[in-house]
Amino acid sequence: MNNRTFTMIKPDAFSKGYSGLILDRIIQAGFKIIAVKMTRLSPEKAGEFYAVHRERGFYQELVDFMSSGPIIAAILEKSNAVADFRTLIGATDPAKATEGTIRKLYAASVGENAIHGSDSNENAKIESDFFFSVLERY
Ligand code: CMP
Repeated sequence: MNNRTFTMIKPDAFSKGYSGLILDRIIQAGFKIIAVKMTRLSPEKAGEFYAVHRERGFYQELVDFMSSGPIIAAILEKSNAVADFRTLIGATDPAKATEGTIRKLYAASVGENAIHGSDSNENAKIESDFFFSVLERY
């Protein structure tokens, strides 16, 4: 999995119609889509996905937001995928994100920040397995 990462286009970016533009930027940056699906997380599933943050003050807000509408989940492949993808999306807080990054372009706030990217190879595998069976990967 060292050349793969996991992403979600979050409900804010999806509802604003940015999904196509964001997927295009990801592909133009050299990532290959191994798996992709449009889905909607239940509050329970969103809570499970972000369980590592359950003690944080923003956890309930995060769960409510991530279950508020459809998302696009994907597994992406590229050399150095995790680090390169985090560079492409920019800082968690769009106000701190570098010009030209996906969050700088499409995110409104630290909570509604348009896109998720795995923070390690280990979490890329856990998060990919959360959404995709082997048969859904190409
Ligand atoms: P993400 O990369 O998906 O991983 C955890 C998410 O928690 C993060 O993006 C943000 O959307 C969210 N998050 C982090 N800090 C805050 C905060 N201070 N307030 C609300 N949401 C936050």
